[in-house]
Amino acid sequence: MAEQRPSGGVEQKNEARAESESGRASGLTVRFAHDSEAEFARILDFYGVAWEYEPRSFPLRWEEDRVVEAFTPDFYLPDLDLYVELTTLKQGLVTDKHRKIRLLGELYPDVRIKFLNKRDYLRLLAKYGYGPPSAEAIQAIDRVLITEAQLQRRVSELGAQVTKDYKGRAPLLVGVLRGVACFMADLMRRVSLPLAVDFMAISSYEGDKSGAVRILKDLDENVEGRDILVVEDIVDTGMTLNTLLNYLQARRPASVRVCALLDKRARRLVDVPLDYVGFEVPDEFVVGYGLDYRQVYRNLPFIATLQKDWMENGPWEMPGIVRPKKAPRKKEKSSKPPPPG
Ligand code: IMP
Ligand code: MG
Repeated sequence: MAEQRPSGGVEQKNEARAESESGRASGLTVRFAHDSEAEFARILDFYGVAWEYEPRSFPLRWEEDRVVEAFTPDFYLPDLDLYVELTTLKQGLVTDKHRKIRLLGELYPDVRIKFLNKRDYLRLLAKYGYGPPSAEAIQAIDRVLITEAQLQRRVSELGAQVTKDYKGRAPLLVGVLRGVACFMADLMRRVSLPLAVDFMAISSYEGDKSGAVRILKDLDENVEGRDILVVEDIVDTGMTLNTLLNYLQARRPASVRVCALLDKRARRLVDVPLDYVGFEVPDEFVVGYGLDYRQVYRNLPFIATLQKDWMENGPWEMPGIVRPKKAPRKKEKSSKPPPPG
């Protein structure tokens, strides 16, 4: 594993090292020697590619038993089994690096390494099937909180746990539209049980802290006597979930449990029991993997925060994107409920 450098630096999640923490974004700090490296790491996070920073040094030259020259590639990408060395513009350094890389190739023929400038690395990622999300989305993203790989890993763990806990039963998974679309689709394929799936659509009145909820689409299934697993994208104040749980309980199911992908615990107003939680997220508005901001960004494959100025001056006039009449959710300024629909 890499020595973490003592100076310089940008805070970055290192997905590869976070792996042992059951797929959670760990916020480990890696000190980068150059801004270009920090940016490369950010791009890798953005596309959900696991990386390690300077994990290994390759001895190149020895005098007696002493290593007198070594080469430490900037990054290792375990998913691609590839070392990456970022290039600089200083020609002298490039020539020296080329010489080292040639030596590396001779001494370690099985090691795959690429020598990349910025244009090259975007092309490389495209080649491996990562992204890109639309240019507008890339501009709007502030930070990727949970990468695609971390989501997939955690959803698999949740699916395995549900499978174990419901052994011998056939639960009914109840999802709340529309934010749960991605999570439900992935989770249900990770559960090895004869399960059924149903959806509800609920609209909460904005600006109404009492949590008045209208049911826009009711369940199609009869829940009486069934083992219900409510699947939620994110639990914020807990109002939506609380209302939903009361509604379900009144229909006399055998049991009700809750599986939430994201828990924004800091904002909880109603204490609702969560049986399964994917990730705890900070008190920030998040988008992606089903979650929207004004109906946009649901198709990002990761969970991210948006840049503040982008939230205010977003792409709301783009063709096909209709600026909604309603104020954005969670910015509860108006005390009047929005018109129905
Ligand atoms: P709650 O009733 O306050 O717990 O809100 C739950 C619902 O609000 C979720 O199901 C989401 O649809 C929405 N929501 C809450 N926080 C966020 C967020 O950060 N991003 C996107 N939607 C959110
Ligand atoms: Mg929702």
